[in-house]
Amino acid sequence: MLRGRFISVEGIDGAGKSTQLTWLVQYLQSRQLVLRQTREPGGTALGEKLRVLLLNDEMHLDTEALLMFAARNEHLQQVILPALAQGEWVLCDRFTDATYAYQCGGRGLAVERFATLEQWVQGREHGLIEPDLTLIFDVPLEVSQARMAGTRVLDRFEREQADFHSRVRAAYLQRAAQNPQRIRVIDASRSLELIQTELAQLMDEFLV
Ligand SMILES: Nc1ncnc2c1ncn2[C@@H]1O[C@H](COP(=O)(O)OP(=O)(O)OP(=O)(O)O)[C@@H](O)[C@H]1O
Ligand SMILES: [Mg+2]
Repeated sequence: MLRGRFISVEGIDGAGKSTQLTWLVQYLQSRQLVLRQTREPGGTALGEKLRVLLLNDEMHLDTEALLMFAARNEHLQQVILPALAQGEWVLCDRFTDATYAYQCGGRGLAVERFATLEQWVQGREHGLIEPDLTLIFDVPLEVSQARMAGTRVLDRFEREQADFHSRVRAAYLQRAAQNPQRIRVIDASRSLELIQTELAQLMDEFLV
């Protein structure tokens, strides 16, 4: 059986990732694909427990980074790799680009540390296990903040200052510039309809 494809969606808090992911799942299901929708941090029973800690508990910055990759390892081993091997398509709300954006860009930790952790968790003989396609939903801070306003109790990351979110956004755009073959930046400040027209075109190209 053909290996399934791995798609991740990324972007700052409130950019519209979950909204677009839900749409994308329906769009791809209508193409008779078997899909697995999941998220990080999380996606497994243990990973969801780590998510609660990561989003709520104060901790050393290195601990945060290590827990992210611990949760990711569990997610890859238990869910993502078995699903892909069975020919399922995996759609993941955040993956390693988010770690580069938040822990390196936002928190300011050294990129080299993450390269080590990434290699440990995602490294294989033929190279890194990475998404086949990553969609970054990009919005200015004011837009994401307006979208989040009043809709939820903010978590530890969402409560950070504006300059933190600016650094996260900049780090995402830098990742996109460094990985043009894998990452597509979508202008998510537009209407849902316009974004979904672009997504449909992109998916149709990707399905070929
Ligand atoms: N293009 C859009 N135009 C207008 N509103 C939008 C658009 N995209 C998303 N929204 C709204 O903005 C809010 C945040 O969207 P969503 O929860 O999908 O963001 P998210 O990126 O998943 O956020 P988080 O990182 O916190 O999970 C929701 O209320 C959603 O309905
Ligand atoms: Mg979301």
